[in-house]
Amino acid sequence: MVGFGVFQVTDKEECKQSVLGAIRAGYRLIDTAAVYGNEDAVGDAVREAIDAGLCTREELFITSKLWVQDMGNYDMAIAGIESSLKKSGLEYFDLYLLHQAMRDYFSAWRALEEAYEAGKLKAIGVSNFYPHVLANFCETVRIRPMVNQVELHPYFVQAEALETMKYYNVQPEAWAPLGGGRHKPYESELLQQIANAHQKSVAQVVLRWNLQRGVTIIPKSTKLKRIEENISIWDFTLSDNEMAQISSLDLGYVGDSVKHFKPEFVRGCLGVKIHS
Ligand SMILES: NC(=O)c1ccc[n+]([C@@H]2O[C@H](COP(=O)([O-])OP(=O)(O)OC[C@H]3O[C@@H](n4cnc5c(N)ncnc54)[C@H](OP(=O)(O)O)[C@@H]3O)[C@@H](O)[C@H]2O)c1
Repeated sequence: MVGFGVFQVTDKEECKQSVLGAIRAGYRLIDTAAVYGNEDAVGDAVREAIDAGLCTREELFITSKLWVQDMGNYDMAIAGIESSLKKSGLEYFDLYLLHQAMRDYFSAWRALEEAYEAGKLKAIGVSNFYPHVLANFCETVRIRPMVNQVELHPYFVQAEALETMKYYNVQPEAWAPLGGGRHKPYESELLQQIANAHQKSVAQVVLRWNLQRGVTIIPKSTKLKRIEENISIWDFTLSDNEMAQISSLDLGYVGDSVKHFKPEFVRGCLGVKIHS
């Protein structure tokens, strides 16, 4: 339920050390993606952690994602999956996601289904599939996605999206569970009050809120103190009233949270090349 994200940790050594720090702190789920350019550093950290006796490969849950450039057709997706495996040096991923609902994501999904059946991907899912896209997808594909990784935090609650995921038995996973640096939960008086009442930090309250509504979280940090702080959220419980108060911070479908609906964002993603 509590994983560790490595988006924007582009320095290989910093990425490896952050993942090792996270594994030492108790995290077992690591979230990377082909487009983050650090699948290799995550793979290095996994091997180093296993060699150091910190954990076994079976105890870890490594997630990566197929980038849009590899979603043009079935063959490109097959090559993309192989590229992720090769870069990470892992024999399998525990979870592999279609990063965006862009290009030919139905053909790309067939490649994921086959790799899943071949045991190269232990679970398969999607990311940034908004409710109508997810519903159509679930009604159409042979193997339904097991996870949908989307933006979820107190400023973007997405209650309806969670209902759709529940209906199709798709596990919700929150990206930017701390607001991704765009929102400032630390400046909220309400969140500070709730944090004080539990002798916890605002970050811990925000993460716990998603956990209590059944959402997997993958906070990112390169700072060891925060890495430890972000997983120390199992020793307190938010009341129903506190949960409702936190949810009331929701801004709804506005601003940057709906960038996926904008032509310039889609065009931008299509323009990001991860292979020459
Ligand atoms: N599927 C997608 O499209 C998608 C999109 C975005 C992200 N993701 C995934 O989701 C993960 C998390 O999202 P995110 O990295 O965008 O945002 P996030 O985890 O919500 O926030 C990360 C930011 O919060 C800071 N931070 C971390 N812990 C903190 C704490 N305890 N107190 C105060 N500040 C803290 C980090 O800074 P420091 O590093 O300096 O501590 C960083 O600036 C990513 O790493 C990635 O794996 C997926």
